[in-house]
Amino acid sequence: MGLEFKRHRRLRRNAAMRSLVRENHVRVEDFIYPIFVIEGENIKNEISSMPGIYQYSLDRLTEEMDEVASLGIQSVLLFGIPVEKDECGTGAFHDHGIVQEATRLIKEKYPNILVVADTCLCEYTSHGHCGMIEGDQVLNDPSLKLLTDTAISQAKAGADIIAPSNMMDGFVAAIRQGLDEAGFAHIPIMSYSVKYASAFYGPFRDAAESTPQFGDRKTYQMDPANRLEAFREAESDVEEGADFLIVKPGMPYLDIVRDVRNEFNVPVVTYNVSGEYSMVKAASANGWVDEKSVVMEMLTGMKRAGADLIITYHAKDAARWLNEK
Ligand code: PBG
Repeated sequence: MGLEFKRHRRLRRNAAMRSLVRENHVRVEDFIYPIFVIEGENIKNEISSMPGIYQYSLDRLTEEMDEVASLGIQSVLLFGIPVEKDECGTGAFHDHGIVQEATRLIKEKYPNILVVADTCLCEYTSHGHCGMIEGDQVLNDPSLKLLTDTAISQAKAGADIIAPSNMMDGFVAAIRQGLDEAGFAHIPIMSYSVKYASAFYGPFRDAAESTPQFGDRKTYQMDPANRLEAFREAESDVEEGADFLIVKPGMPYLDIVRDVRNEFNVPVVTYNVSGEYSMVKAASANGWVDEKSVVMEMLTGMKRAGADLIITYHAKDAARWLNEK
């Protein structure tokens, strides 16, 4: 005459049992590791707000890439920091720009590693916005040509995937057409479709030297309060030819990852952004959280939310932990 209830703890009795019924897994192949490449020589600058993350000049880049390769990380995402910036962000689409040269170097020395090129202007423009400006306005349509030229020059340099992060309207359509006409119909677009105007990008702007010199990005990046708008953004990008959809940032937006995963049938990527990384590093350095445990829990949560791939600055550490097992 016992009480009637369910015994969920049966499946949690020991490590082997828990591992038998585990539903979601993080794999090293899921990671895309962001790397900052800077013009100049013999540079390895640690970003003060992102411990463990550096800006590398091309002559030092192999140190980083050797480590990436030895850990089994398959994909890197390149951001460039040029010496000179101008109104139009010319450095972004120069055939010998920093990302183009870094791409050539990586594809020559590490042909099996996928190079994902960030396609944006903000690191290259004197005003720090992601498009062309007129007065205090960020212009949409005139920016598309510059972004398309950027994507084509990156594909010419050997980039395997084009990842446009600028949030202009029509950038996927424009870049797809440009790539196709230039003979790069086989190169996929990983679109930052659902990108919120987030305070979590703060440390990245130190790393990429891309802080807007006036105003903010709220006329092109999304309002963090909106969900339905995420469907509109993702839908138009899929129609325009996006091969992957990115939701960004990660942790505070995992509901949106789940929505996008349920609604669309292309691979979904979450971007575990700089501010998320820096918070974990700061708390770990203080001994307030256990770094390995919280990082693996966060990454697992992203997979559980529906992300197929994760762009993360924790990739090298997480790969090391996964390889240890
Ligand atoms: C450029 C870009 C940004 C990030 C990726 N690409 C910054 C921004 O939009 O201001 C942020 C990445 C991060 O915080 O890790 N448009």
